[in-house]
Amino acid sequence: MSIKNNKFYITTPIYYVNAEPHIGSAYTTVAADVLARYHRMIGDKVFFLTGTDEHGASIAKKAKEARMEPQKFVDEISAKFKFAWDELNISNDNFIRTTDPKHKKAVQNALQYLYDKGDIYLGKYEGLYCRGCEQYKSEKDLVNGKCPDHNKKPEKASEECYMFKMSKYSEKILKKIKSDEFKIMPASRKNEILNFYKGGLKDIAFSRKNVKWGIPLPWDKSHTAYVWADAFLNYITGIGLSGDKKDKLYFKNSAEKWWPADLHLMSKDILRVHSTIWPAMLLALDLPLPKQLFIHGFFLIDGKKMSKSLGNIIAPSDMVKKYGVGGARYLLMSATSFGHDGDVSFEKFDEKYNADLANGLGNLVARSITLVEKMQKANLKMKVTKFEDLLIGKQRKDTKSYLKYYKENLVKLKISQSLNVAINTIKLMDGHISSEKPWEMIKNKDEKVGEVMYNVLERLRIIAWMLLPFMPDTAEKIWSQLGINSAKEIKKDFNKATKWGGLSPNTKIKKGESLFPRI
Ligand code: MSP
Repeated sequence: MSIKNNKFYITTPIYYVNAEPHIGSAYTTVAADVLARYHRMIGDKVFFLTGTDEHGASIAKKAKEARMEPQKFVDEISAKFKFAWDELNISNDNFIRTTDPKHKKAVQNALQYLYDKGDIYLGKYEGLYCRGCEQYKSEKDLVNGKCPDHNKKPEKASEECYMFKMSKYSEKILKKIKSDEFKIMPASRKNEILNFYKGGLKDIAFSRKNVKWGIPLPWDKSHTAYVWADAFLNYITGIGLSGDKKDKLYFKNSAEKWWPADLHLMSKDILRVHSTIWPAMLLALDLPLPKQLFIHGFFLIDGKKMSKSLGNIIAPSDMVKKYGVGGARYLLMSATSFGHDGDVSFEKFDEKYNADLANGLGNLVARSITLVEKMQKANLKMKVTKFEDLLIGKQRKDTKSYLKYYKENLVKLKISQSLNVAINTIKLMDGHISSEKPWEMIKNKDEKVGEVMYNVLERLRIIAWMLLPFMPDTAEKIWSQLGINSAKEIKKDFNKATKWGGLSPNTKIKKGESLFPRI
């Protein structure tokens, strides 16, 4: 199938609907969007999946607290995620919900397949049970060994459950991780997982008897599917895999076009499950493993992870209100080096917004358009220059390869570094204008100003291309001020469009509103 040659299937985790979206989940989603848009821009066939994870005891508990039916509760919160992603201009191709009837049916088909194969068997679940919550708790849920909601130590308990033979796949997965056939990035994360595999994988509980808010097992309806088993399958049900026996290729058929995923993006909190349970499930289903997991850092507030349980969250909509959609996306992507933790706050965002966007990009665009207007009033015309004609020394070296750096960084998922290339080019152009002093040239009727200003505007056109995956609305506004029809520009091939000389020297510039008013 030819699509396989240049396809790019990217996913985010599906987010829990026990709380509203915050900029931590927005971070992964915008990063995935940047990569999806970049791959579309270079002509790849892209499928970008995100969605919500809606089953399980803790979500049922939240619904109960809100005195709502679970379905109604999850409908409301899932809609808030959809709304937040719309507001942030996310270009996902599907939004999967684990309560979608098609997903539920496909999960049942998948689990039945594993049961028939003998990879799921009846066993016993043992854990720490809190009577108050009527839930098993993991060590992570406890504070000083006690359930934080009931201030009581949970009791050891056990119950009948179905187990998944994860141990059977341990060796096979380990080999694939080692060889990078199943790549875990950054390398430090891969090492962490290789260490974890030293003990081998153990079988795990794959069903629960007393959790009603879940997908019933088709062969024993008194059990519901383990939430992670249900959740992981979104990555294949979201691209249309049904697991219906009537399909000629059974599991492979409908997903074949996009599967395996090229990239699962996430943070470190869910790395371990993604590098153990998920690949084991795929091998058991006779499906290939995803090509790569990339693990980015956490957004921290005063050194602590931003999370719904700590309540130290910033809402994406508050950022969009304050900085505009392009501004919010820029600030999220540049907040920290991709792959590392970073402290965020409105103070930091304000500072960066003013420096890079209001005084940087926004000012450069406004200043350049005003200069060209003045120049034209003085009857001076723009003139095409050769690439870099007007830059000297180190500046010349930096700009020569700026597009190369930009692309290389994106391929290596150095997302923030790639954005930096665009920002540095903006700084360089600012410096260039200040040193050339085109306003004096205009006063002196020096025709050379036509070359100086062409150089600036043409570079702005190319900077807008670099910004397109990051801040699509901003890129279009820049083109429009340069007198370019953005609907036509976008359709061009990125590599051809970024060749020097694309801007007509007779372009009709259109001064627009300030892109980023100062805060
Ligand atoms: N539902 C599971 C995932 C199932 S995927 C098959 C889940 N949901 S979650 O809502 O808790 O999302 C966790 C993910 O949200 C993280 O891996 C990360 O992508 C993102 N983030 C949540 N908080 C974050 C920060 N404070 N900083 C950066 N990313 C954050 O786990």
